Amino acid sequence: MSSPLQSLAVSAPAKINLLLRVIGKRPDGFHELETVFQEIDLADCLTLTEQPEKIELTCDSGPLPTDNRNLAVRAALALQQMTGTRKGCSIDLRKRIPLSAGLGGGSSDAAAVLLGLNRLWNLDLKPMALLKVASELGSDVPFFLHGGTAYATGRGEQLRRLTATPPYFGVLIYPNLAISTKEVFAAGKFSLTNSENYFTFKFVSSSMKNPAQWTDRFGNDLERVVFERYPQLQELIVELRRAGAFYAHMSGSGSSVFGLFDSELAACSAKICFDPYDRWVFRPVYRQHRSLS
Ligand code: C5P
Repeated sequence: MSSPLQSLAVSAPAKINLLLRVIGKRPDGFHELETVFQEIDLADCLTLTEQPEKIELTCDSGPLPTDNRNLAVRAALALQQMTGTRKGCSIDLRKRIPLSAGLGGGSSDAAAVLLGLNRLWNLDLKPMALLKVASELGSDVPFFLHGGTAYATGRGEQLRRLTATPPYFGVLIYPNLAISTKEVFAAGKFSLTNSENYFTFKFVSSSMKNPAQWTDRFGNDLERVVFERYPQLQELIVELRRAGAFYAHMSGSGSSVFGLFDSELAACSAKICFDPYDRWVFRPVYRQHRSLS
């Protein structure tokens, strides 16, 4: 018989939004979205170690709070509350995904804690139970329980798996700006939800197979709001296209922007043009779904 786990390393990948449409404002104050999430190979790393009762977080990123304002801590507390366990844990977070960048870093850390503690604490929670607690933590958290490529509606928590897109290489640029998602949605002054605004899953899933159509069909509705305040992000996108990207947009509510290229060589060459910024060449991660057991 194997001995119980005491410590576990879990990866928390970033996402980009290949398209993001705001369908409208909802009565609960959130916005109805239609989006495609794509997991990418830039990730935070968390080490979870069992200890009695207390939840503690250490982190190598200065500005991030380590108390229960941190979504990773809230995820562990939510599991304790839900299951009544007396087990606790220390979480060591190595941050690689930039903060408030539209890449889902905090949400992914929370999902990694849910997946990791389900194993470390032997909770045996089923996917539906994890999804419920994930959607209470934040709109993007459920996606990170699945990973891969997903079509999302609702607040972003209603997910349907998409088949893998044709392969590409991306350049991701972080323009050293932290943008609040809440403020972007509020500044957008979107009108009430009109369900006729949806593209539909069928249209999106068939378009996903043909990246040459993406520029004409897709985009990010939050760019209008963010570019008004930060025109330099729009300029970066123009530069990415000039550098050969076949598709370039802002991710989520910003501030990061990405460009997609047909080859690794093209992506690496383009990356050189954006010298003063933090930037990465990335690849999409394709998977059926992350292990939920
Ligand atoms: O769900 P999450 O906590 O990540 O969202 C942060 C903020 O972004 C929300 O408080 C809300 O103001 C806004 N938001 C929204 N509609 C969504 C997702 C987020 O208005 N679908």
